[in-house]
Amino acid sequence: MLKAKTFFDMPPMRLTPRMEEDFFTSLMMRNGTYKTTFHDRFAEVNPYLVRYLREHASASPQVLDIGVSSGISTLELHENLRAGGLNVQMLGTDVLIDAFLVTVFPGCHALVDPSGFPLRFDVPGGSMKPWVTRRDYYSGVFIARKLINKLFTYRARRMLEQSDAAIVRAVKLVTPRALVGAEITFCCDDVSQYNPAYAARFDFVRAANVLNRGYFNAAVLSSMVRNIGRYLRPTHGSLFVTRTHDDRTNHGTLFRMAANQYFEVVHRFGSGSEVEDVVTQTRITP
Ligand SMILES: C[S@@+](CC[C@H](N)C(=O)[O-])C[C@H]1O[C@@H](n2cnc3c(N)ncnc32)[C@H](O)[C@@H]1O
Repeated sequence: MLKAKTFFDMPPMRLTPRMEEDFFTSLMMRNGTYKTTFHDRFAEVNPYLVRYLREHASASPQVLDIGVSSGISTLELHENLRAGGLNVQMLGTDVLIDAFLVTVFPGCHALVDPSGFPLRFDVPGGSMKPWVTRRDYYSGVFIARKLINKLFTYRARRMLEQSDAAIVRAVKLVTPRALVGAEITFCCDDVSQYNPAYAARFDFVRAANVLNRGYFNAAVLSSMVRNIGRYLRPTHGSLFVTRTHDDRTNHGTLFRMAANQYFEVVHRFGSGSEVEDVVTQTRITP
Protein backbone atom coordinates (compact mmCIF):
# COMPACT_ATOMS: atom_id res chain seq x y z
CA MET A 1 0.00 0.00 0.00
CA LEU A 2 1.36 3.38 -1.07
CA LYS A 3 2.28 5.59 1.87
CA ALA A 4 0.06 8.65 2.31
CA LYS A 5 3.12 10.91 2.22
CA THR A 6 4.34 9.32 -1.03
CA PHE A 7 0.86 9.83 -2.54
CA PHE A 8 0.76 13.54 -1.69
CA ASP A 9 4.41 14.14 -2.66
CA MET A 10 4.04 12.55 -6.10
CA PRO A 11 3.68 14.90 -9.12
CA PRO A 12 0.05 14.54 -10.38
CA MET A 13 1.18 13.27 -13.78
CA ARG A 14 2.96 10.29 -12.19
CA LEU A 15 -0.11 9.16 -10.24
CA THR A 16 -1.64 6.19 -12.06
CA PRO A 17 -5.40 5.41 -11.95
CA ARG A 18 -4.52 2.27 -9.95
CA MET A 19 -2.62 4.29 -7.33
CA GLU A 20 -5.55 6.71 -6.98
CA GLU A 21 -8.10 3.91 -6.67
CA ASP A 22 -6.08 1.97 -4.09
CA PHE A 23 -5.37 5.04 -2.01
CA PHE A 24 -8.89 6.54 -1.86
CA THR A 25 -10.66 3.18 -1.52
CA SER A 26 -8.60 2.44 1.61
CA LEU A 27 -9.99 5.48 3.50
CA MET A 28 -12.89 5.10 5.95
CA MET A 29 -14.57 8.32 7.10
CA ARG A 30 -15.63 9.20 10.62
CA ASN A 31 -19.29 8.34 9.75
CA GLY A 32 -18.28 4.79 8.70
CA THR A 33 -18.55 5.38 4.92
CA TYR A 34 -15.69 4.64 2.53
CA LYS A 35 -14.12 6.69 -0.24
CA THR A 36 -14.40 3.66 -2.55
CA THR A 37 -14.11 4.71 -6.16
CA PHE A 38 -12.66 3.67 -9.50
CA HIS A 39 -12.18 4.98 -13.01
CA ASP A 40 -14.88 4.67 -15.70
CA ARG A 41 -17.38 3.68 -13.02
CA PHE A 42 -20.33 5.20 -14.91
CA ALA A 43 -19.20 4.64 -18.50
CA GLU A 44 -22.50 2.96 -19.49
CA VAL A 45 -24.67 5.55 -17.70
CA ASN A 46 -23.12 8.92 -18.55
CA PRO A 47 -24.08 8.99 -22.28
CA TYR A 48 -27.78 8.75 -21.31
CA LEU A 49 -27.39 11.53 -18.72
CA VAL A 50 -25.65 13.77 -21.26
CA ARG A 51 -28.49 13.27 -23.78
CA TYR A 52 -31.13 13.88 -21.10
CA LEU A 53 -29.54 17.12 -19.90
CA ARG A 54 -29.06 18.36 -23.46
CA GLU A 55 -32.81 17.96 -23.98
CA HIS A 56 -34.08 19.10 -20.58
CA ALA A 57 -31.60 21.57 -19.06
CA SER A 58 -30.10 24.85 -20.20
CA ALA A 59 -26.91 24.87 -22.30
CA SER A 60 -25.00 25.99 -19.18
CA PRO A 61 -26.32 23.67 -16.48
CA GLN A 62 -25.32 23.87 -12.84
CA VAL A 63 -24.51 20.38 -11.58
CA LEU A 64 -24.04 19.17 -8.00
CA ASP A 65 -22.22 15.88 -7.39
CA ILE A 66 -22.73 14.63 -3.82
CA GLY A 67 -20.26 12.30 -2.09
CA VAL A 68 -17.48 12.78 -4.65
CA SER A 69 -14.83 10.80 -2.79
CA SER A 70 -11.66 11.30 -4.89
CA GLY A 71 -13.50 13.36 -7.52
CA ILE A 72 -12.46 10.85 -10.22
CA SER A 73 -16.04 10.18 -11.36
CA THR A 74 -16.88 13.89 -10.96
CA LEU A 75 -14.11 14.73 -13.41
CA GLU A 76 -15.31 12.05 -15.83
CA LEU A 77 -18.93 13.31 -15.73
CA HIS A 78 -17.65 16.84 -16.28
CA GLU A 79 -15.60 15.73 -19.29
CA ASN A 80 -18.57 13.79 -20.74
CA LEU A 81 -20.95 16.76 -20.35
CA ARG A 82 -18.43 19.14 -21.92
CA ALA A 83 -17.85 16.72 -24.82
CA GLY A 84 -21.64 16.65 -25.24
CA GLY A 85 -21.66 20.41 -25.84
CA LEU A 86 -22.81 21.52 -22.38
CA ASN A 87 -21.04 24.45 -20.77
CA VAL A 88 -21.37 22.87 -17.34
CA GLN A 89 -20.38 24.37 -14.00
CA MET A 90 -19.92 21.71 -11.35
CA LEU A 91 -19.80 21.62 -7.58
CA GLY A 92 -18.56 18.45 -5.90
CA THR A 93 -19.24 17.92 -2.20
CA ASP A 94 -18.25 15.37 0.40
CA VAL A 95 -18.21 15.13 4.19
CA LEU A 96 -14.45 14.98 3.93
CA ILE A 97 -12.40 16.97 1.44
CA ASP A 98 -9.77 18.62 3.65
CA ALA A 99 -7.40 16.56 5.75
CA PHE A 100 -4.00 16.85 7.44
CA LEU A 101 -0.85 14.83 7.05
CA VAL A 102 0.93 15.05 10.40
CA THR A 103 4.53 13.99 11.06
CA VAL A 104 3.99 12.19 14.36
CA PHE A 105 7.56 10.82 14.62
CA PRO A 106 10.51 11.08 12.24
CA GLY A 107 9.55 8.97 9.19
CA CYS A 108 6.03 8.32 10.58
CA HIS A 109 2.87 10.12 9.48
CA ALA A 110 -0.80 10.15 10.39
CA LEU A 111 -3.42 11.19 7.83
CA VAL A 112 -6.30 12.62 9.88
CA ASP A 113 -9.52 14.55 9.31
CA PRO A 114 -9.88 18.08 10.81
CA SER A 115 -11.21 16.60 14.09
CA GLY A 116 -8.15 14.34 14.38
CA PHE A 117 -10.03 11.17 13.30
CA PRO A 118 -7.38 8.83 11.82
CA LEU A 119 -7.61 7.77 8.18
CA ARG A 120 -4.21 6.17 7.54
CA PHE A 121 -0.82 5.72 9.21
CA ASP A 122 2.60 5.65 7.53
CA VAL A 123 5.12 3.56 9.44
CA PRO A 124 8.67 2.65 8.40
CA GLY A 125 8.40 0.22 5.50
CA GLY A 126 4.72 0.72 4.75
CA SER A 127 1.30 2.20 5.38
CA MET A 128 -1.56 0.81 7.47
CA LYS A 129 -5.26 1.21 8.17
CA PRO A 130 -6.05 2.51 11.66
CA TRP A 131 -8.87 0.11 12.41
CA VAL A 132 -8.63 -3.50 13.54
CA THR A 133 -9.94 -6.22 11.21
CA ARG A 134 -11.18 -9.70 12.12
CA ARG A 135 -8.04 -11.19 10.56
CA ASP A 136 -5.91 -9.14 13.00
CA TYR A 137 -7.41 -11.08 15.92
CA TYR A 138 -6.31 -14.41 14.44
CA SER A 139 -2.82 -13.17 13.59
CA GLY A 140 -2.28 -11.21 16.82
CA VAL A 141 -1.61 -8.01 14.85
CA PHE A 142 -4.51 -6.29 16.62
CA ILE A 143 -2.36 -5.44 19.67
CA ALA A 144 0.21 -3.58 17.52
CA ARG A 145 -2.52 -1.88 15.48
CA LYS A 146 -4.36 -0.67 18.58
CA LEU A 147 -1.15 0.63 20.14
CA ILE A 148 -0.10 2.47 16.98
CA ASN A 149 -3.62 3.87 16.60
CA LYS A 150 -3.67 5.22 20.17
CA LEU A 151 -0.18 6.69 20.01
CA PHE A 152 -0.36 8.19 16.48
CA THR A 153 -3.86 9.62 17.00
CA TYR A 154 -2.87 11.18 20.33
CA ARG A 155 0.26 12.75 18.82
CA ALA A 156 -1.60 13.93 15.69
CA ARG A 157 -4.32 15.64 17.76
CA ARG A 158 -1.75 17.38 19.95
CA MET A 159 0.15 18.57 16.86
CA LEU A 160 -3.02 19.74 15.11
CA GLU A 161 -3.60 22.09 18.05
CA GLN A 162 -0.13 23.56 17.51
CA SER A 163 -0.69 23.90 13.72
CA ASP A 164 3.07 23.93 13.12
CA ALA A 165 3.48 24.10 9.33
CA ALA A 166 6.64 21.98 9.52
CA ILE A 167 4.81 18.95 10.95
CA VAL A 168 1.17 19.57 9.94
CA ARG A 169 0.48 19.69 6.21
CA ALA A 170 -2.98 20.52 4.83
CA VAL A 171 -3.97 18.18 1.98
CA LYS A 172 -7.08 17.74 -0.21
CA LEU A 173 -8.53 14.26 -0.55
CA VAL A 174 -9.33 14.81 -4.21
CA THR A 175 -7.42 13.72 -7.29
CA PRO A 176 -5.04 16.56 -8.18
CA ARG A 177 -6.26 16.31 -11.81
CA ALA A 178 -9.72 17.52 -10.75
CA LEU A 179 -8.30 20.56 -8.98
CA VAL A 180 -6.83 22.01 -12.17
CA GLY A 181 -9.08 24.65 -13.83
CA ALA A 182 -12.03 26.61 -12.48
CA GLU A 183 -14.96 24.57 -13.79
CA ILE A 184 -15.17 22.12 -10.89
CA THR A 185 -15.27 23.39 -7.32
CA PHE A 186 -14.99 21.05 -4.33
CA CYS A 187 -16.51 21.84 -0.94
CA CYS A 188 -16.94 20.05 2.33
CA ASP A 189 -20.67 19.51 2.94
CA ASP A 190 -22.83 16.97 4.74
CA VAL A 191 -25.96 16.22 2.68
CA SER A 192 -27.85 15.26 5.85
CA GLN A 193 -27.63 18.92 6.98
CA TYR A 194 -29.61 21.44 4.89
CA ASN A 195 -27.32 24.05 3.33
CA PRO A 196 -29.23 27.26 2.43
CA ALA A 197 -26.37 28.37 0.15
CA TYR A 198 -27.41 25.64 -2.32
CA ALA A 199 -31.15 26.45 -2.36
CA ALA A 200 -32.75 26.24 -5.86
CA ARG A 201 -29.31 26.50 -7.49
CA PHE A 202 -28.87 23.28 -9.49
CA ASP A 203 -30.32 21.79 -12.67
CA PHE A 204 -29.02 18.32 -11.95
CA VAL A 205 -27.81 16.48 -8.85
CA ARG A 206 -25.99 13.15 -8.80
CA ALA A 207 -25.70 11.05 -5.63
CA ALA A 208 -23.62 8.02 -6.62
CA ASN A 209 -22.81 5.32 -4.08
CA VAL A 210 -23.74 7.50 -1.14
CA LEU A 211 -27.53 7.21 -0.57
CA ASN A 212 -27.12 3.54 0.34
CA ARG A 213 -29.28 1.59 2.82
CA GLY A 214 -26.10 0.02 4.18
CA TYR A 215 -24.88 3.48 5.18
CA PHE A 216 -28.03 5.28 6.37
CA ASN A 217 -31.49 4.38 7.72
CA ALA A 218 -34.69 5.35 5.89
CA ALA A 219 -35.32 8.47 8.02
CA VAL A 220 -31.82 9.87 7.33
CA LEU A 221 -32.10 8.97 3.63
CA SER A 222 -35.43 10.78 3.46
CA SER A 223 -34.02 13.96 5.01
CA MET A 224 -31.10 13.80 2.56
CA VAL A 225 -33.55 13.50 -0.36
CA ARG A 226 -35.55 16.47 1.00
CA ASN A 227 -32.37 18.57 1.15
CA ILE A 228 -31.37 17.58 -2.38
CA GLY A 229 -34.86 18.41 -3.66
CA ARG A 230 -34.54 21.91 -2.22
CA TYR A 231 -31.17 22.36 -3.96
CA LEU A 232 -32.78 21.80 -7.38
CA ARG A 233 -34.30 24.54 -9.49
CA PRO A 234 -38.07 24.22 -9.05
CA THR A 235 -39.06 23.83 -12.71
CA HIS A 236 -36.92 21.20 -14.40
CA GLY A 237 -34.52 19.80 -11.80
CA SER A 238 -33.44 16.17 -12.02
CA LEU A 239 -31.69 13.77 -9.66
CA PHE A 240 -29.69 10.64 -10.40
CA VAL A 241 -29.20 8.13 -7.57
CA THR A 242 -27.16 5.01 -8.19
CA ARG A 243 -25.18 2.26 -6.56
CA THR A 244 -22.44 0.20 -8.18
CA HIS A 245 -22.65 -3.51 -7.34
CA ASP A 246 -19.66 -5.80 -6.75
CA ASP A 247 -19.76 -6.92 -10.40
CA ARG A 248 -19.31 -3.21 -11.32
CA THR A 249 -22.79 -2.84 -12.84
CA ASN A 250 -24.75 0.29 -11.92
CA HIS A 251 -28.27 0.10 -10.55
CA GLY A 252 -29.72 3.56 -10.47
CA THR A 253 -32.73 5.74 -11.19
CA LEU A 254 -33.02 9.12 -12.87
CA PHE A 255 -35.79 11.21 -11.28
CA ARG A 256 -37.34 14.57 -12.10
CA MET A 257 -39.23 16.90 -9.82
CA ALA A 258 -42.98 16.81 -10.55
CA ALA A 259 -45.42 19.68 -10.04
CA ASN A 260 -46.75 18.05 -6.82
CA GLN A 261 -43.29 18.40 -5.21
CA TYR A 262 -42.53 14.67 -5.36
CA PHE A 263 -39.83 13.07 -7.46
CA GLU A 264 -41.02 10.85 -10.32
CA VAL A 265 -39.06 8.17 -12.16
CA VAL A 266 -37.70 9.07 -15.59
CA HIS A 267 -35.44 6.13 -16.33
CA ARG A 268 -33.96 3.07 -14.63
CA PHE A 269 -30.49 1.63 -15.13
CA GLY A 270 -30.14 -2.05 -14.21
CA SER A 271 -32.72 -2.83 -11.52
CA GLY A 272 -33.01 0.80 -10.46
CA SER A 273 -31.97 2.58 -7.27
CA GLU A 274 -32.32 0.64 -4.02
CA VAL A 275 -33.72 3.81 -2.42
CA GLU A 276 -36.24 4.58 -5.20
CA ASP A 277 -39.16 4.20 -2.77
CA VAL A 278 -37.63 6.66 -0.31
CA VAL A 279 -36.98 9.19 -3.08
CA THR A 280 -40.48 9.00 -4.59
CA GLN A 281 -42.24 9.07 -1.20
CA THR A 282 -40.42 12.13 0.18
CA ARG A 283 -42.28 15.41 -0.31
CA ILE A 284 -39.95 18.27 -1.10
CA THR A 285 -41.18 21.04 1.14
CA PRO A 286 -39.64 24.46 0.65
C1 LIG B 1 -18.35 5.18 -2.00
S1 LIG B 1 -17.89 6.87 -2.14
C2 LIG B 1 -18.65 7.32 -3.67
C3 LIG B 1 -17.73 8.10 -4.57
C4 LIG B 1 -18.26 8.49 -5.94
N1 LIG B 1 -19.52 9.21 -5.86
C5 LIG B 1 -18.39 7.29 -6.83
O1 LIG B 1 -19.51 6.77 -6.96
O2 LIG B 1 -17.37 6.84 -7.38
C6 LIG B 1 -19.00 7.61 -0.95
C7 LIG B 1 -18.61 9.02 -0.57
O3 LIG B 1 -19.71 9.62 0.11
C8 LIG B 1 -19.19 10.47 1.11
N2 LIG B 1 -20.24 10.71 2.11
C9 LIG B 1 -20.64 9.89 3.09
N3 LIG B 1 -21.61 10.46 3.83
C10 LIG B 1 -21.84 11.68 3.28
C11 LIG B 1 -22.70 12.77 3.62
N4 LIG B 1 -23.54 12.68 4.66
N5 LIG B 1 -22.65 13.89 2.87
C12 LIG B 1 -21.79 13.98 1.81
N6 LIG B 1 -20.94 12.98 1.45
C13 LIG B 1 -20.96 11.85 2.18
C14 LIG B 1 -18.00 9.68 1.66
O4 LIG B 1 -17.09 10.53 2.33
C15 LIG B 1 -17.42 9.08 0.40
O5 LIG B 1 -16.41 9.88 -0.15
